[in-house]
Amino acid sequence: MSLPTRVRLVEVGPRDGLQNEKQPVDTDTKLELIARLGEAGLPAIEATAFVSPKWVPQMADAPEVMRRLVRRPGVDYPVLTPNLKGFEAAVEAGAREVAVFAAASETFSRKNINCTIAESLARFEPVMAAADAAGVRVRGYVSCVVGCPYEGDIAPQAVADVAGTLREMGCYEVSLGDTIGVGNPAATRRMLDAVFARVPPAQAAGHFHDTYGMAIANIHAALQAGVAVFDASVAGLGGCPYAAGASGNVATEDVVYLLDGLGIETGIDLDALVATADWISGRLGREPASRVARAMLARQRKQDCTI
Ligand code: HMG
Ligand code: MG
Repeated sequence: MSLPTRVRLVEVGPRDGLQNEKQPVDTDTKLELIARLGEAGLPAIEATAFVSPKWVPQMADAPEVMRRLVRRPGVDYPVLTPNLKGFEAAVEAGAREVAVFAAASETFSRKNINCTIAESLARFEPVMAAADAAGVRVRGYVSCVVGCPYEGDIAPQAVADVAGTLREMGCYEVSLGDTIGVGNPAATRRMLDAVFARVPPAQAAGHFHDTYGMAIANIHAALQAGVAVFDASVAGLGGCPYAAGASGNVATEDVVYLLDGLGIETGIDLDALVATADWISGRLGREPASRVARAMLARQRKQDCTI
């Protein structure tokens, strides 16, 4: 299959990136990060999560983030909602798009949202009905699409079953999460081939974590399979609090560099994105995890020294 000419990137740094951050990140910093990502041209920015603050303390300011958000025209700001309580709080705070999240692994489902896969899907039914009534779009996530920290390899059919159910329930798109970043292009392709029997490529998104450094290769495999939406996190921030040892999402800069090189449009300004990666990493007291950001910043610093 030929590669798509345009790809939509969903920036998940403010949510997936920061949810596991040990040090407190203040609301002003989160809002500035979201604003900078919008200025860099990201068309969708997952802003926060309306989850239990006891489970994920870093997302406790979700209502404030959404109330104070300055929306850029044409940019979507989805938020995670695990249940009706989260959905209602999100809509009250101004959310116009939400994401429900399930898993292809029973053990991960229990650890992450304290219920079985079937119970999670049942919990999403009132969310889907309320969203439909309120005109709110719902994205679906499936975690552990290749491997699980507790169960090991996950069967592609198990992923297809959950992804297909989310689509049939009304999710406009299903994001397929390699939560612990253990995938490789062959496993990714096997998983996608199974999922495409239930979810067409046009409604599938790739969500790769980069623990084993395979995320860019997996994205290339998914592009070849017809996927044209990918989640990514600026500076490679993040990790899931209920998936010990998993590193952050693939860095948005690395994905944009890949897509620019392939001649695939994203509408994203790589220089502005790298500046944002540098800024948020500085705020968190570290270097960006992204190879592209580190290389571009090193080149810039060298040029600055020679001027
Ligand atoms: P639970 O303890 O079973 O829930 O947690 P509960 O219904 O028994 O309620 C317990 C308490 O939580 C109650 O408060 C509820 O009011 C409150 P209390 O009476 O004890 O004071 N509560 C809530 N508070 C705020 N917002 C809510 C909410 N719901 C209940 N929405 C629950 C179940 C789902 C709430 C919990 O397990 C939870 O919040 N889990 C979220 C975990 C999470 O956010 N994980 C990271 C995101 S998923 C991810 O990163 C993967 C992804 O990136 C894709 C990939 O990489 O694979 C998406
Ligand atoms: Mg994730």
